[in-house]
Amino acid sequence: MKTIHNSSLLAVLKEQHQQPLSVVNPANGETIGQVPKLSKNGIIDAIERSQVAQKDWAALPAKTRSERLQRWYQLIIENQEDLARILTSEQGKPLAEARGEVVYGASFIQWFAEEAKRSYGESIPSPSADKRMVTVKQPVGVACAITPWNFPIAMITRKAGPALAAGCSFIVKPAELTPLSAFAIVELARQAGIDKDVLQVVLGESPQEVGEIFSTHPIIRKLSFTGSTRVGSILMKQCAGDIKRTSMELGGNAPFIVFDDADIDEAVKGAMASKFRNAGQTCVCANRFYVHDSIYEEFVTKFDQAVQKLKVGNGLEQGVHLGPVISESAKANIQFSIDKFVEQGASPVSPTQQLDGLFIQPIVLRDVKHDMEGVQNELFGPVAPVIRFSSDEELIDMANDTIYGLASYFYSHNIKRIWKVAEALQYGMVGINEGMVSSEVAPFGGVKQSGIGREGARQGLDEYMDVKYLCFGGL
Ligand code: SIN
Repeated sequence: MKTIHNSSLLAVLKEQHQQPLSVVNPANGETIGQVPKLSKNGIIDAIERSQVAQKDWAALPAKTRSERLQRWYQLIIENQEDLARILTSEQGKPLAEARGEVVYGASFIQWFAEEAKRSYGESIPSPSADKRMVTVKQPVGVACAITPWNFPIAMITRKAGPALAAGCSFIVKPAELTPLSAFAIVELARQAGIDKDVLQVVLGESPQEVGEIFSTHPIIRKLSFTGSTRVGSILMKQCAGDIKRTSMELGGNAPFIVFDDADIDEAVKGAMASKFRNAGQTCVCANRFYVHDSIYEEFVTKFDQAVQKLKVGNGLEQGVHLGPVISESAKANIQFSIDKFVEQGASPVSPTQQLDGLFIQPIVLRDVKHDMEGVQNELFGPVAPVIRFSSDEELIDMANDTIYGLASYFYSHNIKRIWKVAEALQYGMVGINEGMVSSEVAPFGGVKQSGIGREGARQGLDEYMDVKYLCFGGL
C-alpha cells in the first residue's frame, strides 16, 4: 500500500482528486449535489488499499461478515425515506418506485448476508482407496463493478452483497449521472462496521478511464458490469488480457406475448408493470408486444386505456407514475424510435403530445410489424409497439429473432402451450402470466448477447468465489 507522509499529504490528495462532479435532477435541471472524482493514481491507490483490506475481511468468520451485512441491510431499511428522496432527485423515478428500489436493493444485502454462511464445498467419493477428495470455496479477491443509472442502488447491492459475503473486497464505479445514492449507501456500510477500504465507491476522469483501469489492473480479479452490450464487449476484451472473471448484465429486447387463451385483463396488468416501471428504462422491460390476431383489438384498447391514466411529472410529486427520462440524448433516441415506427406505418392508439423537459408521454403503437426497423432496438423508454401474430410457430421465431436473451414474458392458460413456449424461448428469464420477475431469491441474467453470469439467488455468490479442489493422498 502507498504510505502518505504528512509533509506530502496535500500534494498526494491534490494529485488524487479531480474537480468534483455535479449531479443534476433530471426533472428540473437543478444541481443537487457534487461528488469527488479521483485521478488515475487515486483509483490505483484505492485498488491497492482494497487488496490489503481484502485479506483481513476474508479472514473474518463468515458469520461475522454476515452480521455486518445484516447491519448494513437494517441501516438501508431504516434510511429508506432519505435514500428514496436522493434516488428520485438524481434519477427521476417516482418516489413510490424509489422506495421500492431501496427495499429491493436492501434485499440483496439481506439475502447474501444469509448466503455468506452457506458457501459450502463438497466431499467427492474418491475413485481410489488411498485418496480423499474435497472442494472448498474461496473469495476471488478484489472485485469491482461498473453500475448503471437506472437502478442506482439495487444494481450496486446486487453485486456488492455477494462480493462481500464471499470475502472479496469491492470497488464500485456508479453511473456519473446518479452517484449520490452510491455514496449514501456506502456511508451506511461504514456505519455498519464494513471497513472503508473493503467497500469503496470511486469516480474517475471519465467512465472509459475507470473501465480501462478496472479491466486491466492486475490486482483486480473480477469485474461485474451492468450496461450496454457494446460496452460489455469492450470490457470483456480488456479483461481477457489477464483472464479476469467477468459477470455481464447487458442489453435486452424482451418480447411480451399474449396468446388467445390468456386472461386479457391480467395481461394488461402485467404489461403495465413490465413496460412502464422506471419510465421504460429497465433492461427487462417489455420492449415489443406480440398479441394474437383474435384478441389484438381488445388487448390494444384495454392496454391504451390503462396507459392514458398514467400521470407524468416530477417524481417527488404525489400521484406521479412516470418521471422524466434520464437525459436529452435518451429523450431524442426514444422520439426517434417513435417517429421511425410511425413513418413505417404504425400509429399511436391515442393522440400524443410533446412534453417539455425530459418528460415523454407514454404511448401504445398499433399496427407495428415484426420486420419494421426499430423492433430489434432496445427502446429504453415508455413506448409500447404492438405486433400481431397468428400461429405459435411464427410467434416463437419472431420472439427469438434478436441478438438479446435477457427477459421474456407470455400470457396463456394452456398448460401444454406454457411448457412448450417456456422451453422454446431463448431467454435467461421467462415470466409466465407475470410481468415482474426480479427478486433477490431468483437468478437474474441473460443468454446470447444479454450477458454472462447470474445475480441474486444462490448462484450469485458463486460469481465471487473460486472452487479449490483438495486431494488428500497416501491414506
Ligand atoms: C435492469 O434493468 O438491469 C434491472 C432490472 C431489475 O433488476 O429488475
